[in-house]
Amino acid sequence: CGIVGILGKEAVAPQLVDALKRLEYRGYDSAGVATINQNKLDRRRAAGKLRNLEQLLSENPLPGTIGIGHTRWATHGIPNEINAHPHQAGNVAAVHNGIIENFRELREELTAKGHKFETETDTETVVHLIHDEMQAGKRPIEAVSAVLGRLEGAFSLAIIFGGEEDLMIGARRGSPLAVGHGDGEMYLGSDSFALAPFTDEVTYLEEGDWVVLTRRTATFYNEDNMHVERQATTALASANIVDKGNYKHFMEKEIHEQPEVIQHTLAHYVDFANGTVRFKGKLPFDFASLNRISLSACGTAYYAGVVAKYWFEKLARIPVDMDVASEFRYREMPMQENGLALFISQSGETADTLASLRYCKQEGQHIASIVNVPESTIARESDVIFPTLAGAEIGVASTKAFTCQLSVLLALAIMAGRARGTISAGEEQAYVKALSELPKFIRQALKADNTIADLAHELSKVKHVLYLGRGTNFPLAMEGALKLKEISYIHAEGYAAGELKHGPIALIDETMPVVVIAPDDSYYDKTVSNMQEVAARDGRIILITDESGAKKNALEDSTTIVMPTVPDVIAPIVFALPVQMLAYYTANFMGTDVDQPRNLAKSVTVE
Ligand code: G6P
Repeated sequence: CGIVGILGKEAVAPQLVDALKRLEYRGYDSAGVATINQNKLDRRRAAGKLRNLEQLLSENPLPGTIGIGHTRWATHGIPNEINAHPHQAGNVAAVHNGIIENFRELREELTAKGHKFETETDTETVVHLIHDEMQAGKRPIEAVSAVLGRLEGAFSLAIIFGGEEDLMIGARRGSPLAVGHGDGEMYLGSDSFALAPFTDEVTYLEEGDWVVLTRRTATFYNEDNMHVERQATTALASANIVDKGNYKHFMEKEIHEQPEVIQHTLAHYVDFANGTVRFKGKLPFDFASLNRISLSACGTAYYAGVVAKYWFEKLARIPVDMDVASEFRYREMPMQENGLALFISQSGETADTLASLRYCKQEGQHIASIVNVPESTIARESDVIFPTLAGAEIGVASTKAFTCQLSVLLALAIMAGRARGTISAGEEQAYVKALSELPKFIRQALKADNTIADLAHELSKVKHVLYLGRGTNFPLAMEGALKLKEISYIHAEGYAAGELKHGPIALIDETMPVVVIAPDDSYYDKTVSNMQEVAARDGRIILITDESGAKKNALEDSTTIVMPTVPDVIAPIVFALPVQMLAYYTANFMGTDVDQPRNLAKSVTVE
């Protein structure tokens, strides 16, 4: 969910909506704003996308120079208008991101006292608790301070009070929150991205902090309610709302940006003139003495990590664990000294990834992260960050961030291999040459768009698709399946090609297309045998291969998507393109909401 608050000079509702547009990547199930006008608290809320709220506000404007806004990704209660934030009880209104874990007990207690609840949400409990304290005679600040101590879970909050036109309270526990300092105006937002049009002077709340804002002051308290000083910094987030240019969807634009952003990212890690890989900053650990790398991430970033496991183990001979972050943090893995915990996240805000990071920190690991947002919480809590320079990624289904993550991971694996002496200077040069050609190969890969768009027609009619791959193409198969299900809602599964015979082969018939990702590498012949097994059962094959693989393919009833012939090591980056395009063109053909698919959010800040 996304949070914004403004103590302004003019009517704030339009500014709140503007800021929410920048936060829509955090969820778009419903949205709402609340303001105070002539001491009176009032709200407008709407289910669905932000444009519904905009429409409502144009029919029924909301005056007031202080207000809060929210864009929601539903956790408790369906995404209708009643459950939309801000929530209100008496003179208290709040917006909330995260989960209040003990809300049921609190709600029971309040119900027994006579409080009436309108919704199923955990947030409503918070406003009733504050209202309850105020009914008992507390002033707003004391009431909030008393209530914060009773809440369990990970959350951030922005709260306003009817009758108080120069007061807003923000709180952060587990979910990020930042104060923006204006000229006689004050702002609160889930990230500096939301605040960018208003100010670049930003103070991040530390874990457990809460802040009392007026138009001229920001007073910070820590979780023990002690007054603390927090330094303002200059935020880097760009104020320009990124636009789609000539493309129909952000996802399409982001797919086509890949040659450029990969080049930009690689320039940070590779000295092309000398044929070496290097890191511009200082590494707080030594690859040579690491005994293990523990990778964790979610969604698409997780699949980038699975590819990297193959790279680190092969090139640098370091054992690698790769987990989805939501599992890693609970499996209580024993961790030895001198381990590197590496986290991959586009947003740098994914709650499960952040929780894993904190676990590894407690376990004394070196903490490094590959992030696309350098001001993010994951970035700020890491010992070192390896940035991806993909630029803002707006499409919910990750594309360019994924290939930039892969580019950084490969550069790191080469760096580690050199530091450990498992690859020679000559081999490093050869890998750097491959990296230098990557943007060119990606450009060539993009040329398969027409062949792929033609397949969309056929794929849009099917209910299930199976993706197969071996080696680093196995994680790509899983990523391809994820992309397809995310944006086209067609059920898809990615399998290791060798596992086909151990189960999924039972599903094969003429209605089930099988996408096989197989460049002509050392696994090609094995994967072709798996393809034959599918063909023998009337399965329909879509083969993604390179020029020589295409020549060898003798299957009659198959479609071949031809990629350029590339060095094996960079193949997973190049072959990511056709799987992205296959999902994109299918969803586009079906007319789904490609950039904001149902039920998903770009950045999932709840665990
Ligand atoms: C969400 C998005 C995915 C993304 C995942 C991890 O589920 O829908 O596209 O891969 O979060 O996000 P992160 O920002 O940590 O890379």
